[in-house]
Amino acid sequence: MNLFDVYPLFDIEIVRGQGCCVWDAAGNEYLDLYGGHAVISVGHAHPRYVAAITDQLRKLGFYSNSVFNSLQQQLADRLGRVSGYDDYALFLINTGAEANENAIKLASFHNGKRRVVSFRCSFHGRTTAAVRVTDNPAIIAPVNEGMPVTFLSFDDPALVEDEFRKGDVSSLIIEGIQGVGGIRLPSDDFLRSLRELCTRYDVCLIVDEIQSGYGRSGRFFAHQWAGLRPDIITVAKGIANGFPMGAVLISPMFKPVHGMLGTTFGGNHLACAAAIAVLDIIAEERLVENAGRVGGYLMQELATLPGVKEVRGRGLMIGIEMEEPVKDIRRRLLFEQRVFTGVAGAHTIRLLPPLCLSEAEAEETIRRLRNVIA
Ligand SMILES: Cc1ncc(COP(=O)(O)O)c(C=O)c1O
Repeated sequence: MNLFDVYPLFDIEIVRGQGCCVWDAAGNEYLDLYGGHAVISVGHAHPRYVAAITDQLRKLGFYSNSVFNSLQQQLADRLGRVSGYDDYALFLINTGAEANENAIKLASFHNGKRRVVSFRCSFHGRTTAAVRVTDNPAIIAPVNEGMPVTFLSFDDPALVEDEFRKGDVSSLIIEGIQGVGGIRLPSDDFLRSLRELCTRYDVCLIVDEIQSGYGRSGRFFAHQWAGLRPDIITVAKGIANGFPMGAVLISPMFKPVHGMLGTTFGGNHLACAAAIAVLDIIAEERLVENAGRVGGYLMQELATLPGVKEVRGRGLMIGIEMEEPVKDIRRRLLFEQRVFTGVAGAHTIRLLPPLCLSEAEAEETIRRLRNVIA
């Protein structure tokens, strides 16, 4: 049987990782400024993380959501404390798309409305509702087209209010920082006006922190830079450092009803053990502060490199927009300088390293980038 060929692949197999480095099958070492697409939060093969999963696996890997699982409550307690959302409730699933799918559904259950407002260049996943609110017609199949959605531009609250006035908008979904769209930040003022408009027009405010959350921006959630509280927050990626997990943080205004949401695998014992270890490591190693500090240094240095048009982002979520297309730069970074990076569009390199990236590793990244673009 062949694999269904949907991914354009680099001809490299990564077989081992440690901290912010990975090694290929031939033994070459790479600096990981991509984090497996923003997934590796506390670093590859962190000993405490490995021990937590191994210990849990020896006891119990999985049992169903029909019985009490105290690990879920331990995770909720820690997440509430570290994120500042102690009064919210937690629903656990397996991926980012599922988190957004459930968020959109929950909003519609709550206010009985159907339409969703989303934004140009957004990416929210590939399941039915999540892909429908994603601004990329190429990945929307005819079967996904049912739910009414309106796409707007950032930073124009009047346009949002025009849509809300029509009375049929159930939720508005926005990324804390747009990732796939090229590391684009909604302004803090715009986010605050969305909060105010959503409250005024009974629209649920969903902030997708799947890529920008879990400390990556230098705050636990990127929207916390603007000082607002969404009704629903979605997370995944870094939550369990590579173990598949997603979550929805739900404000107290939503009332749960048995059977309203559900999942087989979500919140399983192994995923919870991984996610609890991640939060403990984030707190003990002060990784949110580290992301802010090292990210600030990186952004400052990147802006001085030749050929750089603009550096956007916060913390360790950085977009480097180059004057020239970046395909060749990324290829040379990978094969000559041994640095993994991400991309957005033709001109923007995306940096999404583990949150434990050290200043020395950031300096080394700049040195290798300079070798390629000087
Ligand atoms: C902002 C955002 N939302 C949702 C998703 C979808 O997450 P998943 O691939 O885990 O379904 C992604 C994935 O890249 C993302 O970046």
